[in-house]
Amino acid sequence: MGASELAPISIPGTSTTKVSILGKETIVVGIDLVDHIARDVTTNIPASVYIIVTDTNIERLHLKTLVSALQNALDQNQTTTDAKARILSYVMPPGESSKTRRTKAAIEDWALQNKCTRDSCFIALGGGVIGDLVGFVAATFMRGVPVVQIPTTLLAMVDSSVGGKTAIDTPHGKNLIGSFHQPHRIFIDLRFLQTLPMREFVNGLGEIIKTAAIWVEEDFDLLENHPEQILALSQGAVDDPSSAEVQLLMRVILGSVRVKAHVVTVDEKEGGLRGLLNFGHSIGHAIEAILSPNLLHGECVALGMVREAEIARHLGYLNEVAVGRLVRCLQAYGLPVSLEDKIVKQRAPGKHCPVDKLLDIMCIDKKNQGSKKKIVMLSGIGRTYEPRASVIPDDVIRKILSPSVEITPPSKPINVQLKAPGSKSLSNRALVLAALGEGKCRLHGLLHSDDVQVMLDALQKLVGIEYQWENDGDTLVVTGGGGRLRVPSKEVYLGNAGTAARFLTTVCALIPKTGEKVASPASTIVTGNPRMKQRPIGPLVDALSANGVSVKYLETKGCLPLEITPNGIGLPGGRINLSASVSSQYVSSILISAPYAAQEVTLDLSGDAVISQLYIDMTIAMMASFGINVVRQEGTNMYTIPKGVYKNPADYYVEADASSATYPLAFAAITGSRVTVTNIGSDSLQGDAQFAVKVLREMGCTVEQTKTSTTVSGPAALKPLPTIDMEPMTDAFLTASVLAAVARGGPNKDHTTRITGIANQRVKECNRIAVMVEQLAKFGVSASELPDGIQIHGIDRAALRTPEGGVKCYDDHRVAMSFSVLACAMPGGKRAVVNEKRCVEKTWPAWWDALSNRLGVLISGVDVDVDGEEGDGHAVSSTKATNELHLRNLDETTPTALSDATIVLIGMRGAGKTHAGRAAAKYFGRAFIDMDHAFESDLNTTIPDFINTRGWEAFRTEEVRILSQTLAAHPTDTVIACGGGIVETADGRKVLTGWQAKHGCVVHIKRDITAIASHLDKDTTRPMYGEDMRGVWDRRKGWYRECSGYECVTVHQPDGTEEWGRVEKDFTRFLAFVTQRKSTRTLPGGVPNPPAPSFFISLTAPDVTPILPDLTAICAGADAIELRVDLLASHEEEYVGRQLALLRRYSPLPIVYTVRTQSQGGKFADADHDARVGLLECGVRWACEYVDVEVGCGDGSEVGLTQALVQRKGHSAVIASFHDVKGVVAWDDANVNMNVQRTSTHTGSTTFKAKYDDLAAVGDIVKLIGRAHSLEDNFALRRFVASLPGDKPVIALNMGPLGQISRALNTFLTPVTHPLLTTAAAPGQLSVKEIHQFRTLLGTLTPKAFYLFGKPIQQSVSPHLHNAGFEELGLPHHYQLYETDDVNEVVEVVRRGVAEGTFGGASVTIPLKEAVIKSGVVGMLTDAATRIGAVNTVGVGEGGEVWGDNTDWVGIVRCVRQAGVELGKQITANITGSSTSTTPAYALQTNPDVKTIGVVIGAGGTARAALYSLQHLHVDEIRVWNRTPEKAAALVEQFNGGVVVADLTALLATTPESGHTTRFIVVSTIPAAAQDAAAFTGMFRSLATSPSTVSEVTGVVIDMAYRPLYTPLLLAAQATEGLKKSWTVVPGLTVLVEQGVEQFGRWTGRRPPVEVMRGAASRGYEGV
Ligand SMILES: NC(=O)c1ccc[n+]([C@@H]2O[C@H](COP(=O)([O-])OP(=O)(O)OC[C@H]3O[C@@H](n4cnc5c(N)ncnc54)[C@H](O)[C@@H]3O)[C@@H](O)[C@H]2O)c1
Ligand SMILES: [Zn+2]
Repeated sequence: MGASELAPISIPGTSTTKVSILGKETIVVGIDLVDHIARDVTTNIPASVYIIVTDTNIERLHLKTLVSALQNALDQNQTTTDAKARILSYVMPPGESSKTRRTKAAIEDWALQNKCTRDSCFIALGGGVIGDLVGFVAATFMRGVPVVQIPTTLLAMVDSSVGGKTAIDTPHGKNLIGSFHQPHRIFIDLRFLQTLPMREFVNGLGEIIKTAAIWVEEDFDLLENHPEQILALSQGAVDDPSSAEVQLLMRVILGSVRVKAHVVTVDEKEGGLRGLLNFGHSIGHAIEAILSPNLLHGECVALGMVREAEIARHLGYLNEVAVGRLVRCLQAYGLPVSLEDKIVKQRAPGKHCPVDKLLDIMCIDKKNQGSKKKIVMLSGIGRTYEPRASVIPDDVIRKILSPSVEITPPSKPINVQLKAPGSKSLSNRALVLAALGEGKCRLHGLLHSDDVQVMLDALQKLVGIEYQWENDGDTLVVTGGGGRLRVPSKEVYLGNAGTAARFLTTVCALIPKTGEKVASPASTIVTGNPRMKQRPIGPLVDALSANGVSVKYLETKGCLPLEITPNGIGLPGGRINLSASVSSQYVSSILISAPYAAQEVTLDLSGDAVISQLYIDMTIAMMASFGINVVRQEGTNMYTIPKGVYKNPADYYVEADASSATYPLAFAAITGSRVTVTNIGSDSLQGDAQFAVKVLREMGCTVEQTKTSTTVSGPAALKPLPTIDMEPMTDAFLTASVLAAVARGGPNKDHTTRITGIANQRVKECNRIAVMVEQLAKFGVSASELPDGIQIHGIDRAALRTPEGGVKCYDDHRVAMSFSVLACAMPGGKRAVVNEKRCVEKTWPAWWDALSNRLGVLISGVDVDVDGEEGDGHAVSSTKATNELHLRNLDETTPTALSDATIVLIGMRGAGKTHAGRAAAKYFGRAFIDMDHAFESDLNTTIPDFINTRGWEAFRTEEVRILSQTLAAHPTDTVIACGGGIVETADGRKVLTGWQAKHGCVVHIKRDITAIASHLDKDTTRPMYGEDMRGVWDRRKGWYRECSGYECVTVHQPDGTEEWGRVEKDFTRFLAFVTQRKSTRTLPGGVPNPPAPSFFISLTAPDVTPILPDLTAICAGADAIELRVDLLASHEEEYVGRQLALLRRYSPLPIVYTVRTQSQGGKFADADHDARVGLLECGVRWACEYVDVEVGCGDGSEVGLTQALVQRKGHSAVIASFHDVKGVVAWDDANVNMNVQRTSTHTGSTTFKAKYDDLAAVGDIVKLIGRAHSLEDNFALRRFVASLPGDKPVIALNMGPLGQISRALNTFLTPVTHPLLTTAAAPGQLSVKEIHQFRTLLGTLTPKAFYLFGKPIQQSVSPHLHNAGFEELGLPHHYQLYETDDVNEVVEVVRRGVAEGTFGGASVTIPLKEAVIKSGVVGMLTDAATRIGAVNTVGVGEGGEVWGDNTDWVGIVRCVRQAGVELGKQITANITGSSTSTTPAYALQTNPDVKTIGVVIGAGGTARAALYSLQHLHVDEIRVWNRTPEKAAALVEQFNGGVVVADLTALLATTPESGHTTRFIVVSTIPAAAQDAAAFTGMFRSLATSPSTVSEVTGVVIDMAYRPLYTPLLLAAQATEGLKKSWTVVPGLTVLVEQGVEQFGRWTGRRPPVEVMRGAASRGYEGV
């Protein structure tokens, strides 16, 4: 360091360091450099004009200072002869979205306008965005002029400003256009960092940590040891340049800059070495592609570094310690380390990174080597495996990224030695002892886990220990503080580390007084994560308080957080009484700290029974190793701890964690292998160390032990243990349980292992006993709970089943590791998946590596299946698919959080919770529990009886208890309907709000109170409220809201008639959206969606009721419906909710929920701000698919409210909208003068660009509405849209007649009107038809030809059907007959049409349906077409690929639905608790059983479609009749289902079963001419007269033959009408029309105008 030699004039007080790059010392690092910069630049880079480019943020903070410094410097340099140089500044909007060609061009035009010439010099003052952009401008301006980089973000300082890379973004991707242009100078002035937002600062630290991790271990040491100091400058905690904090920051920045400069110098244009800087980026970039802009680059790199380091660990290049250090260091700065991290969840709510997608994105990394992915492999902190990135196979990457592992059992036994991770208990104790002790101690074999890291962190804060890693981190060198303690400057955050919480509470009590610094806080706060805040610490706090320590609970009594205030002397000491019956950790905590008490401590545990004496002994033994000898008074539970200071031993070896060691040993036992764990043996005091001898040996293993090692050889077959008390080794019971699962034989020959003494395992990470029972069952092993244990019935390992859905670990490391051992016993060919694999990080982060690398087990990565198969709830499939596609485009992923958590329904009695809940449960394959029934069966009483004898209060209490119990027992895959009064008690509300907060799925079923009242009038079986119902409602409605996240408003018929069937359907749809779960019955997808613009229809009616009958027609062609709440007759919530419910009843389309204010062109009073926000919140609660939120038009408070709303939006997509009603905002910023000369005169942002940024920050979709004053404005609009980053869908339109063209050009969710609506919602609004016509004229919609191929087809109705549809929607297409039976002609027509771009699609009929497949003209077949073996629909995808589908079966399905046939139960919910379990035992309510029988008549081609549709409908039974039964048999065999019935009269036979209802779906496929009328009449008659079933059988008869309209079969069915209640008959024409409608949707991507098409078809049918 020293004064600069770079500039001729040295500035006193400015010390700089220079770094050379590419042979020149152009990088200057220091603080407060502005004057230095000005002189250096003006002197050494002479120019006629200095052009400063910066953004509005920096302008505000720093521009003026720089301009005036430059001005001064120029004035001083001024010689009379020179023309004076000018200074210009250009200010642009901040953010990545400005890094575009457009901005580049704007700067260039402006510079040219200002007569800047070849001798200009650009000064980039700003972050990486400014640096990259300005660097590129300078590179090409006048073929290249000098650029000076003054980076103002940490990222820019250490990364983007150094190296000469410049770039801009295009809609195709980031940084795609640019050049190398080395800056003339780079001034790194730390002062700028003082104004940098913390998150941006930390973002840059991500890169610094990265560089240190690959290059300089010393810098990494500094970073990991001093987070507080390094963050100090940015937090405003220091500003003195000479302070240690600033110097430290300077040092790490310099370290990073030097590395980058060096690498660039050696490898300027990216050979291998520069690739090293890419550490963390290969995976980080892929994550960034999904999570940006929610996560910043550095944050994604942090995530990437951890995963890439884990890959290195997995491949054996890097040890576990190094990974741990990296993770801990990143965490110390608040950087995220895993996608499950709460930082990620908070910043990118609802986003998900599927492994496949990450791999896909990684494929296109520029730095790959061909198709091989390259990743930098660390080999230690500060070094890499190769001097370049290494090629890493995909399966390895997948393995590491996947949240789940799949385990393939090993094929043969092995013989290995390995080291298990250090004991957590011993590591924690050793750390605290060494930290409190005097002198240096080398701790060997410490566990590296979150818990231990948390401890290390906390000790650093409390004791100020120094530590260092040696031997590649195998050894931690701790220099103890000798008992000197201080109140830490920040709270001590302990995450979920229980041991740390207990041990450190007493350590905190030792602090005698606050530190010297005035600023240091007066007390210590000890806190943890929410889970930690529920874990008990009361007994310890009681003991300390009683001893005179000042401890206060800050939240819940008995739990963290605690505030401990120094009392002047620390822990008083003397006699301390403690109850040791809950946790031995309290005892250890006091023991460890006791030597430092003011008086000698005598610890009295004589209260209750002491548990875990072993751990107490362990603590005492360790204290002895550190020089303090505790004396236990003979025969008592009293301990005396002498006063003193621990003397740190030079070396301390931490033995293996005995519980962890059980897994490799159990692996030996279960696979017959021989495994030696080298760091635990007979000397161990840990309870679980007895596992080998007491459990494994007894089960038949050979166990050999030395003092420090254990070897186990597995037997040929494991023996069960009839009874074993595992109290001394409770944690090992899970390991024992999985062995017991395959242990056979034993004295009683019942193969049962009974483990007792483990009751405490119910209150561990999860209820481990219950979880073992549940998860063992997935393997086909039955087990049950004992009062203090578990019993397991061993099975033959050949019978082990693949656990369906994988093992669920409940975030419990022991569950994961135990079941991975069991997975190794699976019979050949079977594999088991273990989910939540990361939970092992708690104690054995490298367990999966050990399993695969040491124990030779093949493991691979599996991602949860987040499928998006389309549902078939209500919509026409293609339309729905298109809509879903939009939603999917918004957010590529389906969040899983909600998807299977149990749904709780609340609401008034009579609102429909049971109806709706039961139906939805059935539909989604969930169990259903009615809390009333649960209550009655739990207490074995009826509710009225209970209330009569025990009273309401007792009822409420019990009700809440049973609800919590039920939720605990059924946390997933269940729907629970609560009693109406569950919200009456605070406890009940607590349970509900807790569930809602955690899982987001408490739904309020809301029904108009008057309707409820009249409904309940009829009901006398349930206790009445005894008070007026409206009063009850008024009291509860706020509570219902408070407790629920969603609200489903149920309506019956508009006229008030009750229609439960519809309510059930409505609710099912509601839940499908809320849980983002599709039904178990799905249409196989696979048809590529045609590229089509989308529309939403804007409803303008004050009341939707009158237009409901026309809704289908109004919505033809549209993809969503906008409910303009502001236009409704009333804005009362009840009214709006009902309107919404009615719309949903009548249309399956998604809802756009809008409350438009007056200033934005609507009717809602702007001043009524709160009411508007309230209504918007309803939109979210009501689960509207889209919610329109006006952004940035109110004051600041509005922004906050909007953000709060956006955060709670669930799965709703937010359309952030802005309407420039006055027409004053410009699409182009050409006219808006953004430049400032000398003194900045930047005016507020008045471009849509600026609006876009505001909107994009909150919206999933951005909607910008301007007004066209000229046609030009529409082109400006399109240019604007084209310049956007393209990562969000945009709706951009101009209002007014001149703007109509913009409506035709907009492609995403264009608002439309319909002639049936009396007024349009906005000036210039068009209908779908008009827009299509407009697009046709513009040439953006090309006419296509559609055909019907087949012979004979002259009488076909298809042309009528399709052409009417095209006409109705204004589509320019034409459908025509092409009569042929020669498939070659078809091939010819299709190929030519595809080549010319004129082929739209075709229907195919007899005799070509099969030939078309064979001809090869269709490139892809849907599942339906493949299985049916015939194609009736051909279409063409966006890329010209021809697909074939079969919609005949959809026609059948649609007809069945329309006939209203209720389908039978599919899923038998059966969750009955075993008698010994804690699970409440009651049978679940299932639907009154409906049996559905599908009947197929005929066995030809169409019969295959019929069979396919029946299977799709999940009917309970399928019967097939054909004249030649052999053909029927072949069909049944091919479809793997159904029975052949030879006798027609037996086809409809039913076995009478009381309480069962039978539904028939009869589909006939034989031509009318071949139908035997008499035989059919006999068939129906035999059923109709069968005495037992007359009233119970109904059904639908569908005939695929359609000439004549009513075939003999249909007539026969109708003829039994008088005898038989209801046969709904469906003529073939209807099926034909329905499948045609389906085709239309698939071809056009539009919602078909069904009514028009149906009408045209029937007219066409009659006409011919
Ligand atoms: N050329 C390269 O080698 C290279 C390397 C890495 C990143 N980059 C590029 O860098 C860009 C990211 O840079 P960034 O992270 O610096 O983002 P940035 O430039 O967008 O700056 C981040 C934010 O901080 C504000 N800001 C900057 N300095 C400030 C200060 N001193 N005080 C207060 N606010 C301040 C900015 O206005 C902006 O809002 C990306 O475009 C990336 O592609 C380039
Ligand atoms: Zn980077």
